[in-house]
Amino acid sequence: MAYQVPYSGISNRLGDEEIKAVTQALGQDTLAMGPSGAEFEERFAEALGARHVKATSSCTTALFLAAQVLELRPGDEVITTPQTFWVTTWPLQARGCVVKFADIDPDSLNIDPATIEPLITERTKSIWVVHYGGQAVDMDPVMEIARRHGLTVVEDCAHVAGGTYKGRSLGTIGDIGCFSFHSLKNMTTGEGGAFVTGDDRYAEMARALGTIHNYGEMREREDPAIGPYRQPAYYKDAHVLRSYTHDYVDGRYLVGNNYRMSELSAALGIVQLGRLDRLNDRRREIAHRIDAGVSGVPGIGIQHEKPYARHVYHLYTLFYQPETVGAPKDDFIKHLQEEEGIEIVIRYFPIHLLPEFRALGHRYGECPVAEKTYFEHQIQLPIYDHLTDAQIEHMIGAVRRGVAALSGTA
Ligand SMILES: Cc1ncc(COP(=O)(O)O)c(C=O)c1O
Repeated sequence: MAYQVPYSGISNRLGDEEIKAVTQALGQDTLAMGPSGAEFEERFAEALGARHVKATSSCTTALFLAAQVLELRPGDEVITTPQTFWVTTWPLQARGCVVKFADIDPDSLNIDPATIEPLITERTKSIWVVHYGGQAVDMDPVMEIARRHGLTVVEDCAHVAGGTYKGRSLGTIGDIGCFSFHSLKNMTTGEGGAFVTGDDRYAEMARALGTIHNYGEMREREDPAIGPYRQPAYYKDAHVLRSYTHDYVDGRYLVGNNYRMSELSAALGIVQLGRLDRLNDRRREIAHRIDAGVSGVPGIGIQHEKPYARHVYHLYTLFYQPETVGAPKDDFIKHLQEEEGIEIVIRYFPIHLLPEFRALGHRYGECPVAEKTYFEHQIQLPIYDHLTDAQIEHMIGAVRRGVAALSGTA
């Protein structure tokens, strides 16, 4: 079926500027670890007001770096939200951490700070928040709880490039922020991400561990000879100059990985970053238009922008009230898809109910607000910069017609 309003695989249409930048990068002397990556990191840091940025291949890899630099260990407890994409917790699962789920605010869909503290034990090490759908978590109470209990805070910023909390850039409030520049995100590098921190040690570790290096304590070889060989003087291979000429002390070193962003992605990212404010303004304009168009429709609630947040509407969310309309949410989605040609993708299945967490004993009933909101209320309509006026008006009309049809008032 050809949708009248399809879900788009790209957040914003790329133009001549992007094509020119990527084409120029193709002519560089290197497509890896070159000038574009360095420039992108510098510009992203400047845009955020962040001390350190390491560009990565994705938000997933930035999150893996976060778990590694925080040196989270098996059995360490980490508190997070159930309302997120499942990779938020992957690095924690991979390291054998115990994931504990707080509940959410039913309007912002963000972690509810009041539900964090009861989960804290002597094994809790970190709080991982997700600024869901483009709007900031209420960070002051989160940071206050974290500091009082000596916990670190990671911000999953996959949805909020350009979003703010009380005027501060998201990703710079906790200890580490992790961004995504996947094709669907508010700004894109195709695939890509960023690890952001204000902490010099985390930055130093991330730089080593994200770039095919180890990180640990090293001691100069007293004797630069290796068996019968002298240390080669002219070889360019870094191992000759570093790894092979040093020994690790006490076997204490962390093994890194290659999480780097390519030069082509970085070149694209530099242009997209320059457009980010305008792209986010466009999302806000679309969201406000739909808000105004559906406000007052019985059985439909809009998502509110919190006074502390600049919402950048990575997702456009509506709240459907099945009791008012007299039909379950699924029927409404069916109407939007089949009668109105709007391709609906609902984000995201509460992750404490995923099989891997159910296998660990997590159950329905653990996060009642997140469960009820997901199954009964939240709906996302497509949002991207290239929606036409006609498509926006069509979605507004479709919501109105859907409610009227299902409630028998058509
Ligand atoms: C909340 C959240 N975190 C992390 C990610 C992972 O991002 P990436 O695809 O860049 O690895 C996503 C992707 O959609 C996400 O929605």
